[in-house]
Formats: sequence, structure tokens, C-alpha cells
Amino acid sequence: MAELKLQHLDKIYDNKVQAVFDFNLDVSDGELIVLVGPSGCGKSTTLRMVAGLEDISAGHLLLDGKDITQTPAKDRDMAMVFQNYALYGHMTIYENMAFSLTLRKEDPNVIHKKVLAAAEILGLTSQLNKKPAQLSGGQRQRVAMGRSIVRNPKVFLFDEPLSNLDAKLRGATRREILLLHKRLKATMLYVTHDQTEALTLADRIVCMSMGHVQQVGTPLELYDRPNNTFVAGFIGLPPMNFYPDMLFEDGKLKGNGFEAELSDEEKDTLKDYYGKQIILGVRPENITADGPLQVKVVNNENLGMNTLVHGTVGNGAHLVAKLRGWAEYKNGDIAGMQFGRKHFFDKETTNAIRKEGK
Ligand SMILES: Nc1ncnc2c1ncn2[C@@H]1O[C@H](COP(=O)(O)OP(=O)(O)O)[C@@H](O)[C@H]1O
Ligand SMILES: [Mg+2]
Repeated sequence: MAELKLQHLDKIYDNKVQAVFDFNLDVSDGELIVLVGPSGCGKSTTLRMVAGLEDISAGHLLLDGKDITQTPAKDRDMAMVFQNYALYGHMTIYENMAFSLTLRKEDPNVIHKKVLAAAEILGLTSQLNKKPAQLSGGQRQRVAMGRSIVRNPKVFLFDEPLSNLDAKLRGATRREILLLHKRLKATMLYVTHDQTEALTLADRIVCMSMGHVQQVGTPLELYDRPNNTFVAGFIGLPPMNFYPDMLFEDGKLKGNGFEAELSDEEKDTLKDYYGKQIILGVRPENITADGPLQVKVVNNENLGMNTLVHGTVGNGAHLVAKLRGWAEYKNGDIAGMQFGRKHFFDKETTNAIRKEGK
């Protein structure tokens, strides 16, 4: 069992910089939580407070109901995997994985069993006698995870463990972490700035900006129902197109030199905003070819199954469309397109405008 509660956590560093503001999260046993957000938003600080590597300035941290806010890192029963895996170069893979248990003076037979079991899970059995330098980056990352697994901690903490790997290896290692999570059924907190990692790994995502939690939810909730323009723009690739200053009138949205049609349901969602300006958001993949919207094409990128079209609408507002299949627009072409699913945001608060109860 490992249930973690982060209650009103603040972090103020010695130089008076407040890195985390009122962080609240209940992590269920076995849940994989991903903290995501741009560099400097407070992800590592939050993780390090959980690990006990940073003091908690205010708030409480509970593990299985027990307050561990003041508990030293070594007594928290958590294991952290870092971006630079920091293996001991002169030790074999076996010795690296056994190291923490050897330090604890565990029975060598028990250590042997634990290391072999972890190596088996991670596919490292045939590498145990090698030195770290003989392994690939992906294998070294697995050794770093192995060192955590042998300790059988209550909570696994990962801080950008894949960012030193190349793109192909990142994908493969990501899938291994997912399998590992399924196998160990362990509670995990995973930090990344990469929204793809967040969407593919998380049971729930915590999206942060400037020390504040912006939204907590499943990957689909954050993708489909972002709370505000920050989350809407951060989750999704290429990012959502935003059109500020769109006026809702005559059953349409008008602004930026173009008009967008609205369905009855969308009009209903916007009923309190009649005659007011809002922010319109449209994901590139929710734009289709053939429609009334006149897009002036700047660039056409074929990705095989999709085509990314960069262009402008109305009075020069930027638009990126991710069209299905192969298209060949040229710079200067005027292409008719259509907005599908739309997102609406309040101009003052940047919060999503939704229908009551939805
Ligand atoms: N030891 C420190 N002393 C002072 N400020 C720090 C320290 N560590 C991090 N910060 C600041 O706290 C903020 C959050 O940093 P961090 O948690 O590392 O962000 P992230 O992991 O999301 O990139 C940043 O503004 C960073 O400069
Ligand atoms: Mg960090």
C-alpha cells in the first residue's frame, strides 16, 4: 500500500523565490501521476519535497495516512530515478544494482535474489557482469531503475528520466516504464516537460505553470477539456490555435478578419457571452479541408499519414491545420477549410467556457 497526500504544499527557497504555491494532490495506491509543465514551473521542486530532498516550507505530506512532512529522506521508503543516472563506473551492473542493499548489510543471498529478479524484469540478465560504459544509454537508464526496484520502495519518483536519450530510445524506454508500472503496481510520481510522455504514461496528469497547478485529470480530460488557455496550449502537438477578440453575435463568432460558424450546442455554451469577446481555440487536428474558411497557405509539410499546413486566416492570424492524408498546397494558395471541435475561453480569466455541469 502506498497512498500519498500532498496538502497545501508551498516551497519558498532561501533566496525568497517561491517555486511552488498551494500544491494539492491525492495519489491512490498504484497510481502513475505525471507532473508536466515548462522548464522552471516547479516540477522538480515538488518531487524533491516529496522525496525529502528539499524542506517543505508549508503544508503537509502524508504517506498511508502518516504525516512524513519532517521525515528525513532516507526514512521515507521512496526511490528516485534521475535524468543523469549516476552509475558507478568501476562497478559491474550487478554491483551497481546491489549497492544500496550492500550498504544496508542485507543478507547476500537475499541481495542476489533481488538483483536477479530486478534484472529479469528489466531484461538486464545478460548484462550483469558488464561495466556501465559497455551499455547503451537506454540500458543504463534501466540499471538506474533496477537500483530502485531492488529496494522495493513504497513510492517511485522519476525526474525526467528519459531526457538524455535519443527520440527512438525515449519511445522504447517509455513503453518499458509503462510495463514496469503494470508489473510492479507501484505508486509512481513522474516529472517531465514533454507532453507526449505525460499523455502516454499517466493515469492522471498534473499540469503546472509558474508554481501553480493548472489542472489535474486523466490525459483525455486535459486534452479534450482543458481548464484554461495554458493547459489547452501546453497539451497537444502542434499546439492549439488561439484567436483572441472573437465577438459572439448573430449566431457567429467574428473577429481577426474572419467569421466562424457555430452549432446550436456551441451557441448554447456561449449564451452568457452574447455581444462579448472571447478567445477561440481550435486544435490543428480539428480543422478539415474543404470549407468556407479562407486560409492563405504559407507552408505545407507532408508527414505521411498527415499534412501540416501553416498559413493565415482573416487579417493575418496564424493557423496550423493537421489534415488527414497527403495534401500538396503551395505558398500563396488560398485553401478552403473548416473548424470542427472548438474550445472557448473567457478573455479576462482565460478559463474555459463550458455549459453548466459539463
Ligand atoms: N535551490 C534553489 N534555490 C533557489 N531557487 C531555485 C532552486 N531550485 C530551483 N529554483 C527555482 O525554482 C523554480 C522552479 O524550479 P524547478 O522546480 O527546478 O522547475 P522544473 O523542474 O519545473 O523545471 C525556478 O524558478 C528555479 O529557478
Ligand atoms: Mg526539473
